[in-house]
Amino acid sequence: MRTQVAIIGAGPAGLLLGRLLEKAGIDAVILERRSQDYVLGRIRAGVLEQGTVELLDKAGVGGRLHAEGLVHDGVEFCFDGDRHRFNFRELIGRTVTVYGQTEVTRDLMQARDASGATTIYEAENVSLHDFDSDAPTVRYTKNGIEHELACDFIAGCDGYHGVSRASVPEGALRTFERVYPFGWLGILVDKPPVADELIYAHHERGFALCSMRSPTRSRYYVQVPLGERIEDWSDDRFWDELRRRLDERAAEALVTGPSIEKSITPLRSFVAEPLRFGRLFLAGDAAHIVPPTGAKGLNLAASDVGALAEALIEHYVERSDAGIDGYSARVLSRIWKAERFSWWMTSILHTFPDTDAFGRRIQRAEFDYLRASRAAASALAENYTGLPL
Ligand code: FAD
Ligand code: DHB
Repeated sequence: MRTQVAIIGAGPAGLLLGRLLEKAGIDAVILERRSQDYVLGRIRAGVLEQGTVELLDKAGVGGRLHAEGLVHDGVEFCFDGDRHRFNFRELIGRTVTVYGQTEVTRDLMQARDASGATTIYEAENVSLHDFDSDAPTVRYTKNGIEHELACDFIAGCDGYHGVSRASVPEGALRTFERVYPFGWLGILVDKPPVADELIYAHHERGFALCSMRSPTRSRYYVQVPLGERIEDWSDDRFWDELRRRLDERAAEALVTGPSIEKSITPLRSFVAEPLRFGRLFLAGDAAHIVPPTGAKGLNLAASDVGALAEALIEHYVERSDAGIDGYSARVLSRIWKAERFSWWMTSILHTFPDTDAFGRRIQRAEFDYLRASRAAASALAENYTGLPL
């Protein structure tokens, strides 16, 4: 089999890239290790930046997103029980949209299925070859039979544990990393959200986040120490802990119920440099990880593949390699700003085991400054709603 672009991974990055290329008449085949149902069953991000919404519109999959997504003008921070709302629309004229990653994935998969583009699910033993030449290939096994896919380019959209970054020769890659001493325990519940907008709560017992997927489905998180076991967290224990970290009004308004999903995510910052190796490109979680606090993971994946699609379209349509040559530097500049923002949000909102009384006063001063200064609040708004590429 032959294609123009071999895409590894059918997460949001791979599916969106495939769709943007398809719209420009460029052929791409997606190889995915898991089944379609498995990919759709992963509960992950929930907040889309305005730029991500625009890209999904460009990809022709914005219909359900505009009909069902919840446009939020701002978010609330709750610091030791003091709540403050940041109104992004009023501050900078921008908003975010609450629409689950599962739904984005479903919309992209449906559009791909409808157009007849090739996606090979349950492709095992994917391996990348000769991407330092003009004729790269990707090999994989499907139902016990080995296949080879010849292509012009390979897009590594296979997440943090994927094969693409691991295929780069040692010494060609530099990585930067920070691991945080805690994780997020998240639950999904079919009950109305506690408030109209998201609440990011700092409390001495740890961070908590009240989010949502729809007017009848809520997503809540609490910070937990590393090594915590999911079996030790009954729904009742989760609700009690969440309530204690919120202000009185939110704690009283909280509608609890049986969880329909419960999982723990460790927090990490990670960036690989560069993101192009001959005819192989890295994008999304294959290239970087952010702690979820700033809601940037999915949005960064989208902006990476927006830039990669532009570069590949320039190559095929305008016969210019300027976009391909500039891809790595262009996206890394935005990636690092999102890394900074996610690290900063994590630093001010969580309780760190080694934070002393001085550190806690500094966290409080950050909140008081954000609350009092229009300039500081505007900087938060600019970053949260998404910086330009
Ligand atoms: P992925 O979604 O990871 O997709 C990569 C795909 O590649 C997967 O389908 C995988 O099966 C496939 N793959 C992997 N290896 C191979 C291989 N060898 N061959 C073929 N295919 C392969 N972000 C937020 O903003 N908010 C959140 O609350 C949030 N929660 C998260 C919770 C978890 C548990 C995780 C892991 C991430 C979370 N994120 C969150 C981050 C966000 O979901 C990711 O940034 C986003 O999914 C990145 O998309 P991606 O397409 O780059 O990678
Ligand atoms: C969600 C996750 C986040 O990391 C975040 O900052 C906001 C919302 C969510 O899953 O809804």
